[in-house]
Amino acid sequence: MTPFQSAHGGELLNLYLQGEPLLEAKENAKHTASWDLSKRQLCDIELLLNGAFSPLDGFLTKADYDSVLANMRLASGALWPMPINLDVDEKFAALVELGDEICLRDQEGVVIANMQVSDKWKPNKTLEAQVVFGCEDDSHPGVHYLQNEAGSVYLGGKIVGVTPPLHYDFVDYRHDPRSLRENFAARGWQRVIAFQTRNPVHRAHVIMTKRLMAEHQAQFVIHTAVGLTKPGDLDHFSRVRCYKRVLEHYPSNTADLSLIQLGMRMAGPREALWQAIIRQNFGFTHFIVGRDHAGPGRNNRGGNFYDVEAAQKLVMSFQSELKIQILAAPFLRYVEQRGEFCEESQLLAGEQGLYISGAEL
Ligand code: ADX
Repeated sequence: MTPFQSAHGGELLNLYLQGEPLLEAKENAKHTASWDLSKRQLCDIELLLNGAFSPLDGFLTKADYDSVLANMRLASGALWPMPINLDVDEKFAALVELGDEICLRDQEGVVIANMQVSDKWKPNKTLEAQVVFGCEDDSHPGVHYLQNEAGSVYLGGKIVGVTPPLHYDFVDYRHDPRSLRENFAARGWQRVIAFQTRNPVHRAHVIMTKRLMAEHQAQFVIHTAVGLTKPGDLDHFSRVRCYKRVLEHYPSNTADLSLIQLGMRMAGPREALWQAIIRQNFGFTHFIVGRDHAGPGRNNRGGNFYDVEAAQKLVMSFQSELKIQILAAPFLRYVEQRGEFCEESQLLAGEQGLYISGAEL
């Protein structure tokens, strides 16, 4: 069987150990320093281990981190806009020497992975906030997390997988990049649009996505983020029920649902590019980037954190480097007089297009 290709052309990574090396890793974990992963880190490590973050083979080293902040690329030159760090507190950092192996556990103490620590540094979080989120405003959830929840020391280094993080909910709808690609292949789906969402969906989304499916002769998957989304969002249990009902409105065998344990940062443009690379790793051929994609909406001064077109513009500017085709989706509004949804740019004089935000819904 030919190995699956990652977004960057190399082989899609799978960092899980098997056989003798796995037994050795479990044994080693009994004798090494142990770090309890935060919820965000558990999301990240799941996507590192299953190859969704290919070509990353661990938490970023200092050289990769600096390069990601400055150029949206790893030190190798591969496009990667989001810092993926193992942040720890000073007390734990003091226990760890460069070259040490440490084990990383979930919140029940299960060993998820072992890590060879190659780098340890104190990041300039103000710089990281400015570069990744475009602001230092504490009302931005990503900035707030960085400044108030993330540890003050970053550890970098390769990881190997011991136990996949466990989930008990909606297991039939959870896929890693390999199983989703196999699922597409088994159904003969060669062109598949990924729709990222963290909100319930409604008619505007159905109409927008059906138009894109017809235009691009493609199948469609609601690839919903269920790891961490914006604080205050509707829980994913309710959302998944909503998605299942909405899928009844698509022709059979053209649309489906899959859950991704993504720890969103709400980083707008950079996040949209990151999400596109991740969806490429999952085997999607098309990715919808809509208005204010992955943006946290309004700041506490009443303005938007990001220009509503910034995410589409940034991702489109990298289209030639991506294999996944970016679909810059128009924003649809409901025109009461006509009883139909219409692209914002096509509203006639005097028509007031209505829309409902995810939060309002
Ligand atoms: S996001 O944080 O995951 O981007 P959300 O789940 O609200 O937020 O939106 C998912 C996608 O749907 C985004 O690309 C967004 O731009 C798009 N979208 C939201 N509302 C509409 C609408 N009325 N018409 C077209 N696209 C929309």
